[in-house]
Amino acid sequence: MKAIAVRPGTPHTVHLRDVPKPRLADFGSDTGVLVKTLKVGVDATDREIDEALYGQAPPGDEYLVLGHECFGVVEEVGPAVKSVKPGDFVTATVRRPGKSLFDLMGHNDMTSDETYYERGISLLHGYLTEWFLDDEHYIVRVPQGLAHLGVLMEPASVVAKAIDQAYEAQRRLRVWRPKRAFVLGAGQIGLLATVSLRLRGIEVYTLARSEAPTLNSEIVEAYEATYVSTAKTSMDELVANVGKADLIIDATGSSKVAFDAMTALGKNGALVWTSVTGGDRRTDAPTDRINLEWVLGNKLLLGSVNGNRWHFEMGMRDLAMAEMMYPGVTQRILTHPVKGLANYREMMDLLTQAKPPLKVFVEVAS
Ligand code: BGC
Ligand code: ZN
Repeated sequence: MKAIAVRPGTPHTVHLRDVPKPRLADFGSDTGVLVKTLKVGVDATDREIDEALYGQAPPGDEYLVLGHECFGVVEEVGPAVKSVKPGDFVTATVRRPGKSLFDLMGHNDMTSDETYYERGISLLHGYLTEWFLDDEHYIVRVPQGLAHLGVLMEPASVVAKAIDQAYEAQRRLRVWRPKRAFVLGAGQIGLLATVSLRLRGIEVYTLARSEAPTLNSEIVEAYEATYVSTAKTSMDELVANVGKADLIIDATGSSKVAFDAMTALGKNGALVWTSVTGGDRRTDAPTDRINLEWVLGNKLLLGSVNGNRWHFEMGMRDLAMAEMMYPGVTQRILTHPVKGLANYREMMDLLTQAKPPLKVFVEVAS
């Protein structure tokens, strides 16, 4: 079968290759699920792996199959599989267990191991193939009514975890009812965070560079949030106009913005960082002011990565509720379909544009 792969460690090696089709019979246990891939979303992570900023091949292979945002249909299941059946729409989680206590408890997303295993990213092949096989444990059923949003399940899980972690950590306050949130970045993560927070009744300001109107700004407004172009209104000006935020989620991919956000957080607030920044940028920051305000304001900084299966389930519930509250808005995120694995070049060209499109995804099969 065909797959889109790279040679990790060497920049710009994305290519199409033949890989063996996985067989249920070869799976080590009776809980295997063979999935026919329908669509796979791609993003900056795939681009940065092709740039060799990170990404590792599985031991024994010199290539890594890309793709961590999958959507497919179950083709065959092992005899002990209970939760899905042939014909069901599914997605799959990304991270697989390592050795730490967190992994042993099933909290792979919180691993404390230095080495982590992620399909399509680190040490495990991804989903940009015609079929994939995995244990039932990592396969999450997608409701029929959300099939049109299939490739957004993984990004939605990342958002669900980030928000859930903020609420979990804020239990330190005994009571936390955030009223105002800033979402930094209006890419897929920023937009999904915007709607998830709106669904919790929070007043949301979503900040991005481009001046409105853009598709991104229209989606933000359609979710009844406020779009703020930082080309016109800086974060400081926004704070002067509306006040500091109780919750800030950074999804810009810029470590500078992530640090700048520290001056926009209100007392008892939480700032969540979600960007994976592969570079080695340095930045200047008003450290005395930040230190003082953060101590006097009991503020919290939280990093959040990956989504476990319950975050996929939470993310799906938010997407379902978003469809009820804002029908048809979320699918506007899905801007750039690429037809077939053979068009991998077009896929990477889109991802490497100076201003990459909102969402690129490969239609592997229909
Ligand atoms: C993925 C996560 C993953 C993280 C770090 C993100 O792009 O969405 O699932 O844990 O990269 O590799
Ligand atoms: Zn992704």
